[in-house]
Amino acid sequence: RVLIIDFGSQVTQLIARRVRECGVYSEIVPFQSAGKAFREMQPKAVILSGGPASTTDVGSPRAPQEVFEAGIPVLGICYGQMTMVAQLGGEAEPADHREFGRAFVEIRKDSRIFDGVWNAGEQHQVWMSHGDRVISLAPGFEVFASSPNAPFAVSADEQRGFYSFMFHPEVIHTPDGARLLRNFVQKIAGCSGDWTMASFREDAVARIREQVGDGKVICGLSGGVDSAVAAVLIHEAIGDQLTCIFVDHGLLRMNEAEQVVTLFREHYNIPLVHVDASDTFISALEGESDPEAKRKTIGRLFVEVFEAEARKIGGAEFLAQGTLYPDVIESVSFTGGPSVTIKSHHNVGGLPERMNMKLVEPLRELFKDEVRLLGKELGLPEAFVGRHPFPGPGLAIRCPGGISREKLDILRKADAIYLDEIRKAGLYDAIWQAFAVLLPVQTVGVMGDGRTYEYVCALRAVTSTDGMTADFYHFDMDFLSKAATRIINEVKGINRVVYDVTSKPPGTIEWE
Ligand code: XMP
Repeated sequence: RVLIIDFGSQVTQLIARRVRECGVYSEIVPFQSAGKAFREMQPKAVILSGGPASTTDVGSPRAPQEVFEAGIPVLGICYGQMTMVAQLGGEAEPADHREFGRAFVEIRKDSRIFDGVWNAGEQHQVWMSHGDRVISLAPGFEVFASSPNAPFAVSADEQRGFYSFMFHPEVIHTPDGARLLRNFVQKIAGCSGDWTMASFREDAVARIREQVGDGKVICGLSGGVDSAVAAVLIHEAIGDQLTCIFVDHGLLRMNEAEQVVTLFREHYNIPLVHVDASDTFISALEGESDPEAKRKTIGRLFVEVFEAEARKIGGAEFLAQGTLYPDVIESVSFTGGPSVTIKSHHNVGGLPERMNMKLVEPLRELFKDEVRLLGKELGLPEAFVGRHPFPGPGLAIRCPGGISREKLDILRKADAIYLDEIRKAGLYDAIWQAFAVLLPVQTVGVMGDGRTYEYVCALRAVTSTDGMTADFYHFDMDFLSKAATRIINEVKGINRVVYDVTSKPPGTIEWE
């Protein structure tokens, strides 16, 4: 077990993730409650995260001193390095300019933490981010790597197992960072590396039981992977104290609603309220063509329908959500200032405050791919777990202009054919997200001997790692031609297909 003490870095969760990737359990605690957590957990090693403070500020955060007295290895990263230096008798001061971004360190001396990764005399890329700099090392410490701006980029007291990095080993821009962290947790701290998603499942179940006791929980299912995994996990923990509410807004893809209902009712036997609210949603959206107005209408109706159903169930104290770690960070503005709203994202957001319920969010520490692993661990079908992301407002935002049942039906059919072709070509997993868009434009065509005047369908497929940036997928023309021919032949109402070759930015993934 490794304890990560959080000093407020944006990327603390990435440290936890890297440690988990080494097969080692880790927990993050805010520095304010680190002493208690440290005594309870008795970790084999401690990692001190980065953070925005300066150790020279009055009252700036510190690690509990006992961390350095327990005879276990400690790794300090950025601010973690500074506080380590300050607490062990060295000195740090604010740097003239903050350094942020790519830098190269020169390895001065071999170290156990570099084993098999870096050797003395080499130069390696790292990702720096610091405002303070070390001016004198603590007793027992030596320099192992330096850069022009950071003469103490890596310093350590190998005897005591104290290591400190001025750069972030947890981010991908430090290409060897994951291996350095592996050396720390496995070689230096001696953690065995046999922790798996199965262990996460067990711990999460225990935590949910402890939080919920014998209270009642309701969980909104969106049809997506995250809420489904959260629900199955919570059901494993507390059984029928959980009720799921699936608000079917009529904007889902082909057969999707049935799949969710079958999965929950038949496969898992989880109590599920399936609300067919498609009339409510579709009639409210008819004639509405402004993208933001559509999103807001869907968000508002979702909350209303959900609340009404929750009231019927009655007595639930807890609301479960499939919030993931990226949702947590994205909701915290980097600058602290207002950020521009590109799109009003719709999740179950806003519900907890309105309904005055406590939140159960068992996936808060995980990233999307980890949730998929957990889903598999819980026995969710592969095809369900590996599904492309799907936006809360559903097909409404893939039908620019006003929507109608007729248009949604046309879109659903085209989308199903497109995805079928992608699966047949073995490309589904190589693509982050693929979907059809039904344009509010009709064009002239000729089919058989007749004139047609029908809708245009745009196909979109992108690659991405997190949905924040994306590139269009480079299909070969034969594939596109095959998909287009099938759509035009099989879907009445479409006589032309185009492919979207816009990346994000400047485009967004969805059209609205
Ligand atoms: P954009 O279109 O903003 O989409 O590039 C980025 C990712 O987010 C998904 N998306 C949503 N997901 N609620 C969601 O849960 C929403 O309102 C929403 N809008 C977009 C989109 O499908 C893509 O994966």
